[in-house]
Amino acid sequence: NSYACIFDLDGVIVDTAVYHYKAWKRLANELGFDFSPEQNEALKGISRVRSLELILAWGGVHKTPAEQQELATRKNDWYVAMIREMTPEDLLPGVKHFLEVLKTRGIKIGLGSASKNAGLILERTGVQTLFDAIVDGNTVSASKPDPEVFIKCAEALQASAVNCVVFEDAIAGIAAAKAGDMKVVGIGDPQVLGAADLVIAGLHEMTIEKLFDL
Ligand code: G6P
Ligand code: MG
Repeated sequence: NSYACIFDLDGVIVDTAVYHYKAWKRLANELGFDFSPEQNEALKGISRVRSLELILAWGGVHKTPAEQQELATRKNDWYVAMIREMTPEDLLPGVKHFLEVLKTRGIKIGLGSASKNAGLILERTGVQTLFDAIVDGNTVSASKPDPEVFIKCAEALQASAVNCVVFEDAIAGIAAAKAGDMKVVGIGDPQVLGAADLVIAGLHEMTIEKLFDL
């Protein structure tokens, strides 16, 4: 039975929220309404299809399922064009170092993300081979706050939930980790992520001591 750290991707490993924002805003603008940074914030951890549903509702626009499919694809094409340009420099501070510390200690490393583009992002930023298991939007059916993504990842890592620590920047993700009976480190603002067991500004603030204290 191993110990494991399971990482969310967007907002924890890389800051893709800015690319999501640009692509959603472009789509909203084409549909004739605006899209604010606050609204983008509310979409963290939320799947692509669900995000689009929310955006259309905010804009007061109705689209058929076929049209929604086309809009989601259009947004994703813009998004992929941006993340394809990512490099190892786009890793958030401390990420590479902390992953390497975990490797040295024999602690398993997993990815638990709602994104269907996770593989591409990990590959572009050069950390793909550090992950022992990748569970993403292509393998999961229930969105966070459902714990499915983290439970599947723990299974793949052969770690029981009590031995897993999740790293999350989204409220929905913290709720998902809690629902899966895992410890969770919030990445961001303690005011927002109060439900986490520990809140830090980024992985550059994480140490093995803090991990064991959990
Ligand atoms: C992450 C992000 C969300 C995004 C979702 C799906 O959870 O925080 O903002 O909507 O992934 O990403 P995708 O790359 O599949 O569109
Ligand atoms: Mg996130």
